[in-house]
Amino acid sequence: MPILYDEKSNTLTIVTDHTSYQMQVDAKGYLLHLYYGTRSAGCMDYLLTYADRGGSANPPAALGDRTYSLDALPQEFPFQGAGDCRSPLLRVRDASGAFGCDLRFSSFRIRDGKYSLPGLPAAYDEEGDDAQTLSVILQDPRLGLEVELLYGVLPRLDVICRSAIVRNEGKGALLVDKLESACLDFVHGELDLICFCGRHAMERIPSRQRVEPGSRLIGSRRGISSHQYNPLLVLADRMADERVGRCWSLQLVYSGAFRAEVERDQYDQIRAQMGLGEEAFSYPLDPGESIVAPEVIMSFSAEGLARLSQQLHEVIRTRVCRGYWRDRERPVLLNSWEAFYMDFTGEDIVGMARQAADLGIDLLVLDDGWFSDRNDDTKALGDWWVNEEKLGCDLGELIRRVNGLGVSFGIWMEPEMVSEKSELFRAHPDWALAIPGKHPVLGRDQLVLDLSRTEVVDALFEQICSLLDQGNIEYLKWDYNRSIIDVYSHGVRDQGAVLYRYMLGLYGLLERVIARYPTLLIEGCAGGGGRFDAGMLYYTPQIWCSDNTDAVDRLTIQYGSSFGYPSSAVGAHVSACPNHMNGRVTPLATRACVAMAGTFGYELDPKRLSKKELDTIRGQVQDFRKLSHLVREGRYWRLGDPQRDAVVGWEYVSADGDEALVCAVVLRVEANEGMRYLVPCGLTPGATYVERASGRYYPADALMDMGMPLPGARSLYDSVQVHLLRCDGVADIKEGTRR
Ligand code: DGJ
Repeated sequence: MPILYDEKSNTLTIVTDHTSYQMQVDAKGYLLHLYYGTRSAGCMDYLLTYADRGGSANPPAALGDRTYSLDALPQEFPFQGAGDCRSPLLRVRDASGAFGCDLRFSSFRIRDGKYSLPGLPAAYDEEGDDAQTLSVILQDPRLGLEVELLYGVLPRLDVICRSAIVRNEGKGALLVDKLESACLDFVHGELDLICFCGRHAMERIPSRQRVEPGSRLIGSRRGISSHQYNPLLVLADRMADERVGRCWSLQLVYSGAFRAEVERDQYDQIRAQMGLGEEAFSYPLDPGESIVAPEVIMSFSAEGLARLSQQLHEVIRTRVCRGYWRDRERPVLLNSWEAFYMDFTGEDIVGMARQAADLGIDLLVLDDGWFSDRNDDTKALGDWWVNEEKLGCDLGELIRRVNGLGVSFGIWMEPEMVSEKSELFRAHPDWALAIPGKHPVLGRDQLVLDLSRTEVVDALFEQICSLLDQGNIEYLKWDYNRSIIDVYSHGVRDQGAVLYRYMLGLYGLLERVIARYPTLLIEGCAGGGGRFDAGMLYYTPQIWCSDNTDAVDRLTIQYGSSFGYPSSAVGAHVSACPNHMNGRVTPLATRACVAMAGTFGYELDPKRLSKKELDTIRGQVQDFRKLSHLVREGRYWRLGDPQRDAVVGWEYVSADGDEALVCAVVLRVEANEGMRYLVPCGLTPGATYVERASGRYYPADALMDMGMPLPGARSLYDSVQVHLLRCDGVADIKEGTRR
């Protein structure tokens, strides 16, 4: 049983295959956090210490004991109002406007299976997972405030999920001004914080810093999880690296405005927390009402960052992503965006499909520009009727022509948006988020629709269905290209609820779309990777990772993404050179090598390529079919850091250890250099591997110790892909299958 209660010590312990997590209800009724780390039996309350802390307050329950202060004790759900002056998870106001509450333990319940959350994405369990849920009730009788803390454990995955439901069980109105989902309190330790920061076209660049006194705050005030800060925090021992050291992660299953903070307090204790953004948030709870905090997935590894990432990959890939495409081979696609932008005809699209068929590509995606008078990005969002004049036929006919060539068809949409220059806006100006009397702030010349309103969501659902019903559409790129700035809805009483309700509206809409079109592959997108988070992955099993398709920049973007997200989620394409964003020229082989660390596809006009390049692409598509299972499901290892190393590598190893794919790209060169070597990880000790292309044999232990020379990696941006197959001797390698 992964969740245990010990009556004697009043502790609740959550156990996974390699970790333990413990909390205690203390004699005053407060719920204290004791431990999260390497699996350990016994009671960890020996970690608690008490001293008269001059500057720290003592709650009434301390009965004058000045050694008892919540300001100095590690807690499970710190709240504002009982003397803990560090950053709380919950701040409430009562009807008089007074801040503060006093939450004490009331009861707990353990049940089989993992909880789910009403209206919000959350990791799920499957039969055989032995998942359990712990629910702990905290109450403040004065306010009639109840908080239900939820802990869902997936023992084999070494993952504990957390959420909290705040309920008004009293008679007066309450306002929730701050609600975070989870925190981790450490009573001591020198830790580094790794967060994933960036900007449009350069997302999720790891930033590692010592946790210093004070707070480091990241988050998004943009209504989406954002390009700038990903909702993922990693804390690690200062000496921790890929293979050694303790590390912890907090990952939010939410796609809207969020907040994550790491605070080192006066006693060098550390608190990490994560949850809803505070800005423009003030959530009214009338008697009988409640609000659910989005889920945080927590994980711990005592074996370094690689192991931690592998745990996160598994939970995201197999217990957050769902549905038809979760475990299926994804189509190799050709997207029209960088080929034509909005300047195309129907014949161009059919011509592109013809080329796709010739190259062995599965799916053609018609990106932006196919509807209304959308020939530039200043207008027409919301008017999702097909521009038949531009396409030369209706959409059904275009799809039939593409399908007739043996190619599937996909389409782009940006459903949550409306242009001021659109019929939709003219008919329903109040459907856009805009403050009455204030000129709205534009982004890419567009406004955001108010998805906190049911009638807007219903209308959007109808629009999406009427598009998807026009033909055999097998893929939808769901884009989102601006931030939410003006937070005002005509549909709610309290504007502090809008951002959260927007997310409920979006998730509800996505749920309806996937229920009606269960085999439709939806790729998430927000100006590239501006909403690349576990919340969206619950609905869209892959997300366009970045608008930046330059292979070299992508190494950094995909490296950062790999800390929390599996390659199966990473939309990655080969594009033309010089790259449209940064002008860099890289070899076609390297562009493919990097895009093969994701869902793989192309984003260029094949008509502009030479015969030699087309032949190369044909080969790449075939190669990817042999490798895609490894990329999708293999255990992932980072072999180097693109911000530091001259050669950066990465590797996938199949679960049974029978196959591995080792990849590398040269990022820096000097004249007359020594040979470069790459050291693979995770192979089966004692085994021998053979390289598929060359037939060369390698002993696994030596490979994992001294590595392999890379004679093919001599020039700037050269790349190598080594596909290794495990064998117990030459006789085991069957020509054509394993070689
Ligand atoms: C932003 C996306 O990230 C691009 O791939 C493309 O779909 C454009 N939007 C279209 O407007």
